[in-house]
Amino acid sequence: MIQVAILGLGTVGTGVARVMEENAKQIEHKLGEPLRVKTILVRHFKDGPYRRLMTDDFRQIEEDPEIRVVVETIGGVGAAYEYTKRALAAGKHVVTANKQLVAERGCELLELAREKQVRYLFEASVGGGIPILHPLTQCMAANRIDEVYGILNGTTNYILTRMVRMGTSFEDALAEAQAKGYAEADPTADVAGIDTGRKTCILADLAFGQQVDPEEVPMEGITGLSLTDVKIAHRAGYRVKLLGRALRLPGGGHTAYVAPHLIPEENPVSNVEDVFNAVVVRGNATGDVMFYGKGAGALPTASACAADVMECLQAGPRQQESTWSSGTAGFEDPMELSSRHYFRIAGTLSEAVTAFGNVEVLAENGETAFLTDSISGRDALRLSKDLNVRASMRVLA
Ligand code: HSE
Repeated sequence: MIQVAILGLGTVGTGVARVMEENAKQIEHKLGEPLRVKTILVRHFKDGPYRRLMTDDFRQIEEDPEIRVVVETIGGVGAAYEYTKRALAAGKHVVTANKQLVAERGCELLELAREKQVRYLFEASVGGGIPILHPLTQCMAANRIDEVYGILNGTTNYILTRMVRMGTSFEDALAEAQAKGYAEADPTADVAGIDTGRKTCILADLAFGQQVDPEEVPMEGITGLSLTDVKIAHRAGYRVKLLGRALRLPGGGHTAYVAPHLIPEENPVSNVEDVFNAVVVRGNATGDVMFYGKGAGALPTASACAADVMECLQAGPRQQESTWSSGTAGFEDPMELSSRHYFRIAGTLSEAVTAFGNVEVLAENGETAFLTDSISGRDALRLSKDLNVRASMRVLA
Protein backbone atom coordinates (compact mmCIF):
# COMPACT_ATOMS: atom_id res chain seq x y z
CA MET A 1 0.00 0.00 0.00
CA ILE A 2 1.38 3.42 -1.01
CA GLN A 3 0.32 6.26 1.28
CA VAL A 4 0.05 9.90 0.23
CA ALA A 5 -1.02 13.11 1.94
CA ILE A 6 -2.91 16.08 0.54
CA LEU A 7 -2.33 19.61 1.84
CA GLY A 8 -5.55 21.63 1.53
CA LEU A 9 -9.05 20.47 0.69
CA GLY A 10 -10.33 23.14 -1.69
CA THR A 11 -11.28 22.62 -5.33
CA VAL A 12 -8.02 20.93 -6.37
CA GLY A 13 -7.43 18.99 -3.12
CA THR A 14 -10.92 17.53 -3.24
CA GLY A 15 -10.46 16.71 -6.92
CA VAL A 16 -7.20 14.84 -6.20
CA ALA A 17 -8.87 12.76 -3.46
CA ARG A 18 -11.77 12.00 -5.82
CA VAL A 19 -9.60 11.01 -8.79
CA MET A 20 -7.50 8.72 -6.59
CA GLU A 21 -10.63 7.11 -5.21
CA GLU A 22 -12.63 6.82 -8.44
CA ASN A 23 -9.68 5.66 -10.55
CA ALA A 24 -8.16 3.49 -7.81
CA LYS A 25 -8.24 0.32 -9.96
CA GLN A 26 -6.40 1.83 -12.94
CA ILE A 27 -3.87 3.46 -10.62
CA GLU A 28 -3.26 0.23 -8.71
CA HIS A 29 -2.90 -1.70 -11.95
CA LYS A 30 -0.22 0.73 -13.19
CA LEU A 31 1.66 1.03 -9.90
CA GLY A 32 1.40 -2.62 -8.92
CA GLU A 33 0.06 -1.67 -5.46
CA PRO A 34 -2.92 0.28 -4.16
CA LEU A 35 -2.53 4.04 -3.58
CA ARG A 36 -4.32 5.54 -0.60
CA VAL A 37 -4.80 9.05 0.72
CA LYS A 38 -3.80 8.63 4.36
CA THR A 39 -3.91 12.19 5.70
CA ILE A 40 -5.34 15.54 4.58
CA LEU A 41 -4.11 18.78 6.11
CA VAL A 42 -6.90 21.32 6.66
CA ARG A 43 -7.17 24.61 8.50
CA HIS A 44 -10.71 23.92 9.68
CA PHE A 45 -12.21 20.48 10.16
CA LYS A 46 -15.36 19.94 8.13
CA ASP A 47 -17.81 17.10 7.79
CA GLY A 48 -17.81 14.99 4.67
CA PRO A 49 -16.33 11.81 3.23
CA TYR A 50 -12.73 12.75 4.19
CA ARG A 51 -13.45 13.77 7.80
CA ARG A 52 -11.56 10.83 9.32
CA LEU A 53 -8.38 11.63 7.30
CA MET A 54 -8.12 15.27 8.40
CA THR A 55 -5.48 16.84 10.59
CA ASP A 56 -4.58 20.46 11.25
CA ASP A 57 -1.02 19.56 12.31
CA PHE A 58 1.52 19.34 9.47
CA ARG A 59 3.94 17.41 11.71
CA GLN A 60 1.60 14.44 11.52
CA ILE A 61 2.45 14.26 7.80
CA GLU A 62 6.07 15.37 8.03
CA GLU A 63 6.90 12.75 10.67
CA ASP A 64 4.91 9.89 9.15
CA PRO A 65 7.42 7.56 7.45
CA GLU A 66 4.61 5.79 5.59
CA ILE A 67 3.70 8.92 3.60
CA ARG A 68 5.83 8.95 0.50
CA VAL A 69 4.21 11.71 -1.56
CA VAL A 70 2.69 15.03 -0.50
CA VAL A 71 0.25 16.78 -2.84
CA GLU A 72 0.29 20.50 -2.08
CA THR A 73 -2.97 22.20 -3.05
CA ILE A 74 -2.91 25.10 -0.59
CA GLY A 75 -1.82 27.72 -3.14
CA GLY A 76 0.17 30.91 -2.58
CA VAL A 77 3.71 31.14 -1.23
CA GLY A 78 3.13 31.29 2.54
CA ALA A 79 2.26 27.99 4.19
CA ALA A 80 2.59 26.17 0.85
CA TYR A 81 6.27 27.19 0.56
CA GLU A 82 7.02 26.30 4.17
CA TYR A 83 5.35 22.88 4.02
CA THR A 84 6.85 22.05 0.61
CA LYS A 85 10.36 22.69 1.93
CA ARG A 86 9.70 20.63 5.06
CA ALA A 87 8.18 17.75 3.10
CA LEU A 88 11.13 17.66 0.66
CA ALA A 89 13.60 17.94 3.55
CA ALA A 90 11.84 14.96 5.17
CA GLY A 91 12.54 12.94 2.01
CA LYS A 92 9.02 12.98 0.57
CA HIS A 93 8.17 13.67 -3.06
CA VAL A 94 6.02 16.77 -3.56
CA VAL A 95 3.49 17.35 -6.34
CA THR A 96 1.66 20.63 -6.86
CA ALA A 97 -0.66 22.73 -9.03
CA ASN A 98 0.62 25.91 -7.35
CA LYS A 99 1.82 28.15 -10.19
CA GLN A 100 2.66 31.08 -7.92
CA LEU A 101 5.00 28.97 -5.82
CA VAL A 102 6.64 27.30 -8.84
CA ALA A 103 7.03 30.63 -10.70
CA GLU A 104 8.55 32.37 -7.68
CA ARG A 105 10.45 29.56 -5.89
CA GLY A 106 10.53 26.63 -8.30
CA CYS A 107 14.28 26.81 -8.96
CA GLU A 108 15.11 26.65 -5.25
CA LEU A 109 12.59 23.87 -4.53
CA LEU A 110 13.88 21.76 -7.43
CA GLU A 111 17.39 22.18 -6.05
CA LEU A 112 16.25 21.00 -2.61
CA ALA A 113 14.43 18.04 -4.17
CA ARG A 114 17.60 17.07 -6.06
CA GLU A 115 19.66 17.31 -2.90
CA LYS A 116 17.20 15.06 -1.05
CA GLN A 117 16.88 12.68 -4.04
CA VAL A 118 13.12 13.12 -4.31
CA ARG A 119 10.92 14.67 -7.00
CA TYR A 120 9.17 18.04 -7.13
CA LEU A 121 6.64 17.81 -9.96
CA PHE A 122 4.16 20.47 -11.09
CA GLU A 123 2.54 19.43 -14.38
CA ALA A 124 -0.83 20.75 -13.12
CA SER A 125 0.55 24.26 -12.60
CA VAL A 126 0.22 25.12 -16.30
CA GLY A 127 -2.75 24.29 -18.49
CA GLY A 128 -4.77 22.38 -15.86
CA GLY A 129 -5.39 18.92 -17.33
CA ILE A 130 -3.25 19.50 -20.45
CA PRO A 131 0.05 17.65 -20.44
CA ILE A 132 2.41 20.44 -21.47
CA LEU A 133 5.46 20.55 -19.18
CA HIS A 134 6.50 16.93 -19.71
CA PRO A 135 6.17 17.18 -23.52
CA LEU A 136 8.02 20.50 -23.51
CA THR A 137 10.95 19.23 -21.45
CA GLN A 138 11.07 15.61 -22.55
CA CYS A 139 9.36 14.87 -25.86
CA MET A 140 10.71 18.10 -27.39
CA ALA A 141 14.07 17.92 -25.60
CA ALA A 142 16.03 17.71 -28.85
CA ASN A 143 14.70 21.09 -30.02
CA ARG A 144 15.79 24.62 -29.40
CA ILE A 145 12.53 26.15 -28.17
CA ASP A 146 12.04 29.51 -29.88
CA GLU A 147 8.61 30.45 -28.58
CA VAL A 148 5.84 29.28 -26.29
CA TYR A 149 2.54 31.12 -26.31
CA GLY A 150 -1.05 30.42 -25.50
CA ILE A 151 -4.30 30.88 -23.72
CA LEU A 152 -3.28 29.90 -20.22
CA ASN A 153 -6.17 31.00 -18.04
CA GLY A 154 -9.50 29.19 -18.12
CA THR A 155 -11.38 31.84 -16.16
CA THR A 156 -10.63 34.74 -18.50
CA ASN A 157 -11.23 32.64 -21.60
CA TYR A 158 -14.56 31.54 -20.12
CA ILE A 159 -15.49 35.16 -19.33
CA LEU A 160 -14.55 36.37 -22.83
CA THR A 161 -16.50 33.55 -24.46
CA ARG A 162 -19.63 34.26 -22.40
CA MET A 163 -19.41 38.01 -22.99
CA VAL A 164 -18.88 37.73 -26.74
CA ARG A 165 -21.20 34.80 -27.52
CA MET A 166 -24.07 35.31 -25.04
CA GLY A 167 -23.79 38.99 -24.13
CA THR A 168 -23.25 38.05 -20.45
CA SER A 169 -21.88 40.92 -18.34
CA PHE A 170 -18.29 40.71 -17.08
CA GLU A 171 -19.49 40.41 -13.47
CA ASP A 172 -21.99 37.62 -14.21
CA ALA A 173 -19.49 35.67 -16.34
CA LEU A 174 -16.88 35.92 -13.55
CA ALA A 175 -19.44 34.73 -10.97
CA GLU A 176 -20.17 31.70 -13.21
CA ALA A 177 -16.45 30.93 -13.53
CA GLN A 178 -16.12 31.11 -9.75
CA ALA A 179 -19.12 28.83 -9.23
CA LYS A 180 -17.56 26.27 -11.60
CA GLY A 181 -14.33 26.25 -9.58
CA TYR A 182 -12.20 27.81 -12.34
CA ALA A 183 -11.17 31.07 -10.65
CA GLU A 184 -8.44 31.67 -8.11
CA ALA A 185 -9.41 32.37 -4.46
CA ASP A 186 -8.83 36.03 -5.36
CA PRO A 187 -9.98 36.26 -9.00
CA THR A 188 -7.96 39.46 -9.48
CA ALA A 189 -5.07 37.12 -10.31
CA ASP A 190 -7.13 35.74 -13.20
CA VAL A 191 -8.65 38.90 -14.68
CA ALA A 192 -5.51 41.03 -14.22
CA GLY A 193 -3.36 38.55 -16.18
CA ILE A 194 -1.24 37.56 -13.16
CA ASP A 195 -2.20 33.87 -13.26
CA THR A 196 -1.37 33.76 -16.99
CA GLY A 197 1.88 35.58 -16.15
CA ARG A 198 2.94 32.99 -13.57
CA LYS A 199 2.26 30.15 -16.01
CA THR A 200 4.14 32.02 -18.75
CA CYS A 201 7.13 32.32 -16.40
CA ILE A 202 7.12 28.56 -15.72
CA LEU A 203 6.98 27.82 -19.46
CA ALA A 204 9.79 30.32 -20.07
CA ASP A 205 11.92 28.87 -17.24
CA LEU A 206 11.66 25.40 -18.76
CA ALA A 207 11.91 26.48 -22.40
CA PHE A 208 14.99 28.70 -21.95
CA GLY A 209 16.58 26.98 -18.93
CA GLN A 210 16.79 30.21 -16.99
CA GLN A 211 14.74 31.81 -14.24
CA VAL A 212 12.26 34.42 -15.46
CA ASP A 213 11.28 36.68 -12.57
CA PRO A 214 7.48 37.31 -12.54
CA GLU A 215 8.26 40.85 -11.30
CA GLU A 216 9.95 41.64 -14.62
CA VAL A 217 7.16 40.33 -16.82
CA PRO A 218 4.57 42.93 -17.90
CA MET A 219 1.10 41.52 -17.26
CA GLU A 220 -2.08 43.02 -18.64
CA GLY A 221 -5.44 41.29 -18.18
CA ILE A 222 -8.90 41.63 -19.64
CA THR A 223 -10.36 44.30 -17.37
CA GLY A 224 -9.54 47.12 -19.81
CA LEU A 225 -10.84 45.21 -22.82
CA SER A 226 -13.84 46.72 -24.62
CA LEU A 227 -16.42 44.71 -26.58
CA THR A 228 -16.21 47.45 -29.25
CA ASP A 229 -12.69 46.28 -30.11
CA VAL A 230 -13.67 42.62 -29.95
CA LYS A 231 -16.41 43.29 -32.52
CA ILE A 232 -14.22 45.39 -34.84
CA ALA A 233 -11.54 42.68 -34.71
CA HIS A 234 -14.11 39.96 -35.40
CA ARG A 235 -15.41 41.74 -38.52
CA ALA A 236 -11.82 42.06 -39.77
CA GLY A 237 -11.13 38.31 -39.36
CA TYR A 238 -9.49 38.30 -35.93
CA ARG A 239 -10.46 37.01 -32.46
CA VAL A 240 -9.34 38.72 -29.26
CA LYS A 241 -7.74 36.45 -26.66
CA LEU A 242 -5.58 36.91 -23.58
CA LEU A 243 -2.17 35.43 -24.40
CA GLY A 244 0.95 34.68 -22.41
CA ARG A 245 4.05 34.71 -24.62
CA ALA A 246 7.65 33.72 -23.99
CA LEU A 247 10.09 34.19 -26.88
CA ARG A 248 13.74 33.67 -27.64
CA LEU A 249 15.14 36.83 -29.25
CA PRO A 250 17.51 36.89 -32.24
CA GLY A 251 20.29 38.46 -30.14
CA GLY A 252 20.29 35.46 -27.76
CA GLY A 253 18.13 36.90 -24.98
CA HIS A 254 14.53 36.11 -24.24
CA THR A 255 11.40 37.93 -23.17
CA ALA A 256 7.90 37.27 -21.85
CA TYR A 257 4.69 39.21 -21.34
CA VAL A 258 0.91 38.85 -20.99
CA ALA A 259 -1.65 40.90 -22.92
CA PRO A 260 -4.83 40.62 -24.98
CA HIS A 261 -4.01 40.07 -28.66
CA LEU A 262 -5.77 40.05 -32.00
CA ILE A 263 -5.34 36.53 -33.39
CA PRO A 264 -6.03 35.80 -37.08
CA GLU A 265 -8.99 33.43 -37.39
CA GLU A 266 -6.85 30.94 -39.40
CA ASN A 267 -4.78 30.30 -36.25
CA PRO A 268 -6.50 27.46 -34.31
CA VAL A 269 -5.78 29.27 -31.02
CA SER A 270 -8.33 31.91 -32.08
CA ASN A 271 -11.10 29.30 -31.81
CA VAL A 272 -10.26 28.10 -28.31
CA GLU A 273 -13.27 28.94 -26.16
CA ASP A 274 -14.85 28.49 -22.75
CA VAL A 275 -12.55 27.05 -20.05
CA PHE A 276 -10.25 25.49 -22.67
CA ASN A 277 -6.60 26.47 -22.91
CA ALA A 278 -4.20 26.05 -25.81
CA VAL A 279 -0.43 26.19 -25.73
CA VAL A 280 1.73 26.41 -28.85
CA VAL A 281 5.38 25.40 -28.57
CA ARG A 282 7.65 26.35 -31.46
CA GLY A 283 10.67 24.06 -31.68
CA ASN A 284 13.37 24.58 -34.28
CA ALA A 285 12.94 20.98 -35.45
CA THR A 286 9.22 20.38 -34.87
CA GLY A 287 7.82 23.74 -35.92
CA ASP A 288 4.59 24.59 -34.07
CA VAL A 289 3.10 21.94 -31.78
CA MET A 290 -0.23 22.74 -30.14
CA PHE A 291 -1.64 21.38 -26.87
CA TYR A 292 -5.35 21.81 -26.16
CA GLY A 293 -7.65 20.90 -23.28
CA LYS A 294 -9.43 22.05 -20.15
CA GLY A 295 -7.22 24.58 -18.40
CA ALA A 296 -9.03 24.76 -15.05
CA GLY A 297 -11.47 22.88 -12.88
CA ALA A 298 -11.16 20.29 -10.14
CA LEU A 299 -10.90 17.06 -12.13
CA PRO A 300 -8.66 18.12 -15.04
CA THR A 301 -6.20 19.69 -12.57
CA ALA A 302 -6.45 16.69 -10.25
CA SER A 303 -5.75 14.36 -13.17
CA ALA A 304 -2.39 16.07 -13.75
CA CYS A 305 -1.57 15.98 -10.01
CA ALA A 306 -2.44 12.28 -9.71
CA ALA A 307 -0.31 11.41 -12.75
CA ASP A 308 2.64 13.27 -11.17
CA VAL A 309 2.11 11.28 -7.96
CA MET A 310 2.29 8.10 -10.01
CA GLU A 311 5.42 9.29 -11.81
CA CYS A 312 7.14 9.90 -8.46
CA LEU A 313 6.41 6.31 -7.47
CA GLN A 314 7.12 4.45 -10.65
CA ALA A 315 10.18 2.25 -10.58
CA GLY A 316 12.79 2.32 -13.29
CA PRO A 317 15.29 4.90 -14.45
CA ARG A 318 14.42 8.48 -13.62
CA GLN A 319 13.30 10.74 -16.42
CA GLN A 320 15.49 13.77 -17.03
CA GLU A 321 14.64 16.21 -14.22
CA SER A 322 13.18 19.51 -15.30
CA THR A 323 15.36 22.33 -14.13
CA TRP A 324 16.50 25.85 -14.80
CA SER A 325 19.31 28.07 -13.56
CA SER A 326 18.63 30.77 -11.01
CA GLY A 327 20.27 33.75 -12.78
CA THR A 328 17.83 36.08 -14.54
CA ALA A 329 20.36 37.48 -17.05
CA GLY A 330 19.22 37.56 -20.65
CA PHE A 331 15.70 38.79 -19.97
CA GLU A 332 14.83 41.70 -22.26
CA ASP A 333 11.99 44.21 -22.29
CA PRO A 334 9.15 42.97 -24.54
CA MET A 335 8.73 46.58 -25.71
CA GLU A 336 11.59 45.79 -28.12
CA LEU A 337 9.50 43.08 -29.76
CA SER A 338 8.01 43.93 -33.18
CA SER A 339 4.50 43.06 -34.37
CA ARG A 340 1.58 44.72 -36.06
CA HIS A 341 -0.48 46.80 -33.62
CA TYR A 342 -4.21 47.47 -33.45
CA PHE A 343 -5.31 50.96 -32.44
CA ARG A 344 -8.68 52.59 -31.92
CA ILE A 345 -8.40 56.34 -31.66
CA ALA A 346 -10.83 59.18 -31.08
CA GLY A 347 -9.56 60.83 -34.25
CA THR A 348 -9.47 60.67 -38.02
CA LEU A 349 -7.75 58.39 -40.48
CA SER A 350 -5.50 61.26 -41.54
CA GLU A 351 -4.29 61.62 -37.93
CA ALA A 352 -3.52 57.88 -37.90
CA VAL A 353 -1.62 58.16 -41.20
CA THR A 354 0.31 61.20 -40.00
CA ALA A 355 1.42 59.26 -36.93
CA PHE A 356 2.14 55.83 -38.47
CA GLY A 357 2.41 56.27 -42.25
CA ASN A 358 0.93 53.18 -43.79
CA VAL A 359 -2.11 51.75 -41.91
CA GLU A 360 -4.89 49.24 -42.65
CA VAL A 361 -8.27 50.72 -41.75
CA LEU A 362 -10.68 48.41 -39.91
CA ALA A 363 -13.43 50.87 -38.91
CA GLU A 364 -14.25 54.58 -39.27
CA ASN A 365 -17.23 55.69 -37.30
CA GLY A 366 -16.45 58.89 -35.45
CA GLU A 367 -13.47 56.93 -34.13
CA THR A 368 -10.86 55.18 -36.28
CA ALA A 369 -9.67 51.61 -35.80
CA PHE A 370 -6.62 50.48 -37.77
CA LEU A 371 -3.65 48.14 -37.91
CA THR A 372 -0.09 49.40 -38.22
CA ASP A 373 2.77 47.73 -40.07
CA SER A 374 5.09 45.64 -37.89
CA ILE A 375 6.77 47.96 -35.37
CA SER A 376 8.27 47.55 -31.90
CA GLY A 377 6.10 48.14 -28.83
CA ARG A 378 8.33 51.09 -28.00
CA ASP A 379 7.75 52.67 -31.43
CA ALA A 380 4.01 51.99 -31.17
CA LEU A 381 3.97 53.96 -27.93
CA ARG A 382 6.17 56.76 -29.27
CA LEU A 383 4.31 57.21 -32.56
CA SER A 384 0.88 57.22 -30.86
CA LYS A 385 1.76 59.71 -28.15
CA ASP A 386 -0.13 62.63 -29.78
CA LEU A 387 -3.19 60.54 -30.64
CA ASN A 388 -6.25 60.13 -28.45
CA VAL A 389 -5.85 56.36 -28.01
CA ARG A 390 -8.95 54.49 -26.81
CA ALA A 391 -7.51 50.98 -27.22
CA SER A 392 -4.37 49.27 -28.45
CA MET A 393 -3.29 45.65 -28.73
CA ARG A 394 -0.64 43.60 -30.45
CA VAL A 395 -1.57 41.39 -33.39
CA LEU A 396 -0.24 37.83 -33.31
CA ALA A 397 1.50 37.11 -36.61
N1 HSE B 1 -7.66 30.13 -12.12
C1 HSE B 1 -6.96 29.29 -13.02
C2 HSE B 1 -7.59 29.40 -14.40
C3 HSE B 1 -7.00 27.87 -12.53
O1 HSE B 1 -8.70 29.94 -14.49
O2 HSE B 1 -6.98 29.01 -15.38
C4 HSE B 1 -6.12 26.92 -13.26
O3 HSE B 1 -4.77 27.25 -13.15
